[in-house]
Amino acid sequence: EAAEKGGYPHFMIKEIMEQPQALRDTLRGRIQGGRVEFSDVDLDCCLDGVEKVFIVACGTAYHAGVVGKHVIERLACLPVEVDIASEFRYRDVLWGDKSLLIVISQSGETADTLAALREAKKKGIRVLAVTNVVGSSVAREADRVIYTWAGPEIAVASTKAYSTQLLVMYLLGLYLAQKRGTLPEEVIASTVRELRGIADKVEAILEKAGAVEAIAEKYAATASTFFIGRGLDYAVALEGALKLKEISYVHAEAYAAGELKHGTLALIEKGVPVIAIVTQDELQDKMISNIKEVKARGAEVIGIAKEGLAGIEEETDELFVIPGEDSLLTPMLTVVPLQLFAYYMAVKRGCDVDKPRNLAKSVTVE
Ligand code: G6P
Repeated sequence: EAAEKGGYPHFMIKEIMEQPQALRDTLRGRIQGGRVEFSDVDLDCCLDGVEKVFIVACGTAYHAGVVGKHVIERLACLPVEVDIASEFRYRDVLWGDKSLLIVISQSGETADTLAALREAKKKGIRVLAVTNVVGSSVAREADRVIYTWAGPEIAVASTKAYSTQLLVMYLLGLYLAQKRGTLPEEVIASTVRELRGIADKVEAILEKAGAVEAIAEKYAATASTFFIGRGLDYAVALEGALKLKEISYVHAEAYAAGELKHGTLALIEKGVPVIAIVTQDELQDKMISNIKEVKARGAEVIGIAKEGLAGIEEETDELFVIPGEDSLLTPMLTVVPLQLFAYYMAVKRGCDVDKPRNLAKSVTVE
């Protein structure tokens, strides 16, 4: 097993560090001349004439779907609903006949996700799968498959699979935009250029893992944490909170920052760590006022912000800066310090990082 971990103490940190490679592998063959082309799969039979998209998944894959909703709506101007598979199955879905179901599953074997896929197929709805496992049940049963080439993921807590799922959401959003003519060519070309550079930026963030470890050291004994953000930053907050709770057993709750006043603010007291993600240009001012609100109640604020954001340094107790980036793409960067934070917190708390209690890598029973 030590050999399989490639010199790292745990699979999770190995897989976190493998993200630049996983992103490069997932991008390969899918960009041509400033446009997205899925040379490995003919998607058009799934996408032609689609007027509504449903995204269904569980756990971390669901969080990738939440980002996917923002991305597809913004780039391709298509309405998207995103659901947790175990909820989706039991609600009255108003399918319509021009719908597409996208299921996202690292393993391709999650029971609830598979059940949602089968339900859609029964209703004659087209299904596109995003999965990491070639030949998995989801891959076999969907009409078309986009593979994430993250490589085998062993740690129960998903990291590199999530990053590559996000990348596929961007590629798909751009591809749909190309088909539907919803974006000027130069915007597509510049977004594609940024996507090409993402793996290098993730690498640069990983080089600063020591800074995240120091923050984890400081807060390792904490009992409860909150993750706040708005828009895409909220989507990543959901994933950051899940990572922390599943492997370090610290209570972690993600909250849309604008909702704080409607309940969670009551739980903020002296010394409670609040991880605030601030990368969305048009929402920065609002986030800074949310940070001030929690600080005024004694919270310790750990900021994850885009470089060059004025005024954030003074408002935070700890700050991790990510390289400048188009606000739409920042989830692929901000998640990295959050994964590292969860990992180092778990290590410092003496937890079984790769095999957290009560959890399984793949949930094949309902
Ligand atoms: C389990 C795993 C999670 C994963 C979820 C969905 O809960 O522990 O890491 O996100 O299942 O799995 P899937 O294979 O469908 O992505």
